[in-house]
Amino acid sequence: QQPVRIAPSILSADFARLGEEVRAIDAAGADWVHVDVMDGHFVPNITIGPAVVKALRPHTALPFDVHLMISPVDAYLDAFAEAGADTITVHPEAGPHLHRTIQRIKALGKRAGVSLNPATPAKMLDYVLEEIDLVLVMSVNPGFGGQSFITSQLRKIAAIRNQIDKLGKPIDLEVDGGVDQGNCAEVIAAGADALVAGTATFRGGAAAYAANIAALRGG
Ligand code: DX5
Ligand code: ZN
Repeated sequence: QQPVRIAPSILSADFARLGEEVRAIDAAGADWVHVDVMDGHFVPNITIGPAVVKALRPHTALPFDVHLMISPVDAYLDAFAEAGADTITVHPEAGPHLHRTIQRIKALGKRAGVSLNPATPAKMLDYVLEEIDLVLVMSVNPGFGGQSFITSQLRKIAAIRNQIDKLGKPIDLEVDGGVDQGNCAEVIAAGADALVAGTATFRGGAAAYAANIAALRGG
């Protein structure tokens, strides 16, 4: 398990000043920029598309951790790759052929991630884990920031940590939803090595970002 990486979700940033917000979290010590892409169909909210990812690209050299909550997803992989995504994460329910989707992301030269909703079993990874670079465990039902952490997901994180360690490959285990300074230690202890944090990063305004991120890392 590597030292934990912090991936602020810009869903909780000020959308009217997104470039500035991305520069602020970069300066505050973020490791990745988590971009939540929602289509109003796979999840009940609409956020941003490839044009926004492209516009943000010049504002930071940090990796863009792009979380696609859209269905069908395949038609948009190329656009997000071209826009500057570094990791592209998809949900198994977002297309008919998860393995094919993963192969396409890798063919585009990007890191491939698979995200599991709270009710989706870890078992879903059995035949794709060896192909991917990242697992994203959803600890809330996707769609909105600011929801409460679903504690049953700690068991899933631990189970996937075991699977990854057994495989012996450097696959990131990232957790997304309701992660804050009060529960991050537990999430890391369960086996996470990357934490998404929207509310817990952006609360308190730009002056607080560095301390917010440091506290998440401290565990
Ligand atoms: C939920 C998104 C999350 C969310 C996290 O659908 O995937 O990334 O923005 O926000 P917080 O950290 O506020 O739960
Ligand atoms: Zn997300």
